[in-house]
Amino acid sequence: MEILDGKKISNQIKDEIAAEVVKMKERGEKVPHLAAVLVGNDGASLTYVGSKVRSCEKIGFDSTLVKLSEDTTEEALLEKIKELNENDDIDGFIVQLPLPKQIDEQKVLMAIHPDKDVDGFHPMNFGKMALELETFIPATPFGILEILKRYNIETSGKHTVVIGRSHIVGRPMSILMSRKGFPGDATVTLTHSRTKDLAAITKEADIVITALGSPDFLKAEMVKEGAVIIDVGITRVPDDTNPKGYRITGDVDFADVSPKVSYITPVPGGVGPMTIAMLLKNTLLARERHLAKTK
Ligand code: GUN
Repeated sequence: MEILDGKKISNQIKDEIAAEVVKMKERGEKVPHLAAVLVGNDGASLTYVGSKVRSCEKIGFDSTLVKLSEDTTEEALLEKIKELNENDDIDGFIVQLPLPKQIDEQKVLMAIHPDKDVDGFHPMNFGKMALELETFIPATPFGILEILKRYNIETSGKHTVVIGRSHIVGRPMSILMSRKGFPGDATVTLTHSRTKDLAAITKEADIVITALGSPDFLKAEMVKEGAVIIDVGITRVPDDTNPKGYRITGDVDFADVSPKVSYITPVPGGVGPMTIAMLLKNTLLARERHLAKTK
């Protein structure tokens, strides 16, 4: 069994991006600028967004954090998005999900200019992804592809079972694994809450990608010997022995599953750190595309 070290790869990617930023500066170019919009005070969202902004600073990007109160109206958020769309200094921005219930998520995602949509959630970009055109690939699925690529894990013709059909991870992942090329060319089964006899399906999988948010859900008896396991789950589980009062737990029962498989991502230190690295990568791409358009 080999651990797929997302922490290590994400650091490599961040170093590569930082080196690009140095070159941009040497050429007298503007550095990439990412903005993040956070509405409300959700603890996990605050952590993620804080970490996105700090990573920008570390690699030499400009960053802006826009914090709006929990009771922000849809109209006010759409106005903020319009401002960010029109601000030529900002290359890309994200609106952290989930949003408070008074705000229509689809309306918000559709208001983001596709050229600045570094999350890749706009229908235009999502469609381009499905059609194998140049776009922004959502950061978490993009990170999983990068892990598979850098560990040179064979995906062609492999039965890949994705658990969970969220718009952020499961659905795009199922599309990406079925696309032509590497990583891709897989035979994909997308499973979800209505799937019957999930274990019978996961047992047939060469690659399992779980994005369920159900701690320790995947057990050894549900996987094939030698399978590749990608755990996207990050659930906060109460833990009095931890100073924070919680620990982060994946969808995979790591102690049970890891001895049986060929490769596995740990939680934490697997897919999680990759998400931020690939968001930075998308922001770099946004800057490069922006520059190419204005030249
Ligand atoms: N919430 C959970 N994951 C994500 C993500 O990748 N992007 C945004 N904007 N919100 C999220």
